[in-house]
Amino acid sequence: MVTTRPARNTPDSRPRAGLRRAVAAATAGLLAAAGAVALEPLAPAAVAADGDKPKIVVVATGGTLAGKAGGRDTYTSYRAGTYPMADMVGVLQPELSAFADVEVVQFGNAGSGGYSIAQYHDLTIAVEDALADADGVVVTTGTDTMEEFAYWLDLTVQNKKPVVITGAMRPWAAGNTASESMVLGTDGPANLLQSIRLAASQETYCFGTVLSLNDEVHAARDVTKGNSTRNDTFVTRMSGVLGWIDGSDVIINRAPARVLDCATNDWFTPFDLRTVARDAHKRVEIFYNAQAVGGEAITAWADAGVAGVVTAGTGAGGISSAAGTARTAAARDKGVWFVSTTRTGSGSVSGGSGNIIAGGDLLPQKARLLLMLSRSFTEDIAVARGWFQTLGSPTFDSSALADTVPPTRVVDPEPEPEPQPEPGETGAPTEPGTPGEPAPAPTDGAVPAPGATDGASPSPAATDAAAAGALPFTGGTAGTVGIVSLLGALALAIGATTLWQHRRRVALERGLTG
Ligand code: SIN
Repeated sequence: MVTTRPARNTPDSRPRAGLRRAVAAATAGLLAAAGAVALEPLAPAAVAADGDKPKIVVVATGGTLAGKAGGRDTYTSYRAGTYPMADMVGVLQPELSAFADVEVVQFGNAGSGGYSIAQYHDLTIAVEDALADADGVVVTTGTDTMEEFAYWLDLTVQNKKPVVITGAMRPWAAGNTASESMVLGTDGPANLLQSIRLAASQETYCFGTVLSLNDEVHAARDVTKGNSTRNDTFVTRMSGVLGWIDGSDVIINRAPARVLDCATNDWFTPFDLRTVARDAHKRVEIFYNAQAVGGEAITAWADAGVAGVVTAGTGAGGISSAAGTARTAAARDKGVWFVSTTRTGSGSVSGGSGNIIAGGDLLPQKARLLLMLSRSFTEDIAVARGWFQTLGSPTFDSSALADTVPPTRVVDPEPEPEPQPEPGETGAPTEPGTPGEPAPAPTDGAVPAPGATDGASPSPAATDAAAAGALPFTGGTAGTVGIVSLLGALALAIGATTLWQHRRRVALERGLTG
């Protein structure tokens, strides 16, 4: 392991660490207020003690980021995975040491397409090992399959600390070392620097794995490479970016849905790779549908022992008649599991029965990884179907809050009158208040909650939600939300609930004494 240990000085991430803890506390408070979960202790503070900078480990695998070009103006002809990460991190000094202590793990140095699934397994273990005593990890890879590296890590890493994946679209340099003849306009150094900044900021704590490139931050589940050559290649269709990095400012204004499970073990996926062998993962292939294509590929895969096939169908998942016939036979005769997705690049596929699971809006290459892990962790397709519906397709759902949070502003009751001594009995104890006095009316026109003005009965809808065991805000990484406004609203809601309960208690006490 190559280690760079820059001199320590005052980090600029301290206020952001405080903000992270505040957000975590607000989230935990929300969950408690909603009665959704039994809160467990928050994870130990991930940021180094005051006076220390966050420790970030860069786990390097190669790609164009580490590429050596034929000349300083050569962007498309180069050898990927050439320069060692320790040298590239050295190029970022001394600026890097202003905000992070960085260590390097040179996991490999190859193009992204050169890694096997067993090596993916090893990468997860390497990331988890690094997170054991670091504040965050940055993984560098080639961009071609970066979205798959990212989603694999998102599904498998059992640690809530930030994991950021990055790379580059232009090679790093053209010289014999990473600091010699740097490519004109290379995006590698900036992507690496900003990704370490993002991890050090802790602003994606509990987000799972995020992808950071070209100053943008994307959710691993949703991001895809959208262009073969441009620097702004990564896109998140439908949902958009999670945030961006302007200079030294990390700005995150959306979050994957799993962040709201941050305070509980619901955050973790079932895919703990330490419980399965590195070569346990079975083959899963992708069938790309087109006009009147044949089904021979599906038949051949089934005969070869492939455990699963993701169909990238047309529109909402359609496949040709020949492919459909081959799918039916492979499921029936060989027990192959199928996941139905769309080749359109966005949008959902629903339905599915028997050996066919609906992939929701997972891209085919992401559905393949979830199907592969599903086959590694269960023999029961009903369990796998459930995983696709929950952690594979998470959404935000605040409906259960209707039972616990009043819909309108809650006003603090007027304070109890101070006990007054009887004339001539200076200091003598007296009975407080006036028996039978009604609860004070709202003073600002606030409207009480419909059906809940006496606080005694939940609404029918809330009762239904409770009966159905509905929990607010559970899920994984897909949905996004304006987290700043959400948490602000939640903090208000928590405060409102407390006041509402206090006011109700006062009113009840007065009713009893009256
Ligand atoms: C690769 O994916 O390794 C090559 C392409 C790139 O890194 O951009």
